[in-house]
Amino acid sequence: MAQREGVDLGALSDLCTPWCVHVVATLRIAEHLAAGPTGIDELAAAAGCDADSLHRVLRHLAGKGVFQEPVPGRFALNQAAEGLLDPSVRLGLDLDGFGGRMAAAWGSLLTAVRTGGPAYREVFGLPFWEDLDAHPDIAASFDALMGPPGHGTPDPEVLVSGEWEDVRTVVDVGGGTGALLAEILRARPHVHGTLVDLPRTIARSGEVLRAAGVAERATTVAQSFFEPLPAGADLYLLKSVLNDWPDREAAAILRGCAEAARPGGRVVVLGGVSPDRHAAAAGPSPALLDMVLLGGRDRTVAELRELARQARLAVWAAGWQPSGRFVVECRPA
Ligand SMILES: C[S@@+](CC[C@H](N)C(=O)[O-])C[C@H]1O[C@@H](n2cnc3c(N)ncnc32)[C@H](O)[C@@H]1O
Repeated sequence: MAQREGVDLGALSDLCTPWCVHVVATLRIAEHLAAGPTGIDELAAAAGCDADSLHRVLRHLAGKGVFQEPVPGRFALNQAAEGLLDPSVRLGLDLDGFGGRMAAAWGSLLTAVRTGGPAYREVFGLPFWEDLDAHPDIAASFDALMGPPGHGTPDPEVLVSGEWEDVRTVVDVGGGTGALLAEILRARPHVHGTLVDLPRTIARSGEVLRAAGVAERATTVAQSFFEPLPAGADLYLLKSVLNDWPDREAAAILRGCAEAARPGGRVVVLGGVSPDRHAAAAGPSPALLDMVLLGGRDRTVAELRELARQARLAVWAAGWQPSGRFVVECRPA
């Protein structure tokens, strides 16, 4: 396909290379190369796959700059291929885990666009959260990707104003396995925290909280965030949660936080919100993945302000953290 105005539509629409990268990540080819075998037969034996097919895939990738084939039939790592040794990268690509859900869900994009709703069920037979309920291994790899093994150690600076003086209690709503709460409690020894998430995820949080040395200041609550939340805290956190949901559910989650917060308490939204000007200028939206998986969306501050209003909250402050994260603080209206 010819280039027009410097844009190569053939390269942009190539699905072969992304799938090849996912396949070699799933087969741990970079690890096998790092451990010794370099000939295609030994590599295929180590990975438990067909040598000829693997050879064709690796040749394709070498042509794209991932791996090298210094001698026909023998492969070596190069800098790009070494990236596949990073466990967090592999977690996102592994077709046997949640990486496979993220990859194959793109097959539902056309239906999502035609209908305006998620079509995840069309590919996997169940809506997203029910699919995770039905597949514990996939749910475990989702939790790992969201948690420290995938997304690393979160920045505990979650307030726009930086004012922690009146914060003694924090509830992390949909807080995953507790990585953010653990960092907050570690950074602020006077704070007690509550982690709210689904039972299977809460069951994995003990290790994270204990490793951070904060387990005695943390309570875990295994419940849906659509049920009444633990009440009376100073701060309710929603990190990368609202963008998983359409407006009706996102407003309900905000309302739950507003109703649970102590008078004058705060609700802080991290992730999935961008300043109004920034959104207008932004390029491709990372939230397209939220759209195909969940019918979720990123929102501008103006859009969040409207949802907050429905939840009897007002946007109080918004700003960028030094870590590059955009944060919006809401207070009771
Ligand atoms: C995208 S993850 C974000 C996790 C964490 N806040 C973070 O930033 O890493 C969304 C979280 O919402 C949780 N979740 C989904 N539905 C829920 C529900 N109905 N009640 C409570 N938690 C839920 C998931 O288990 C998951 O941990």
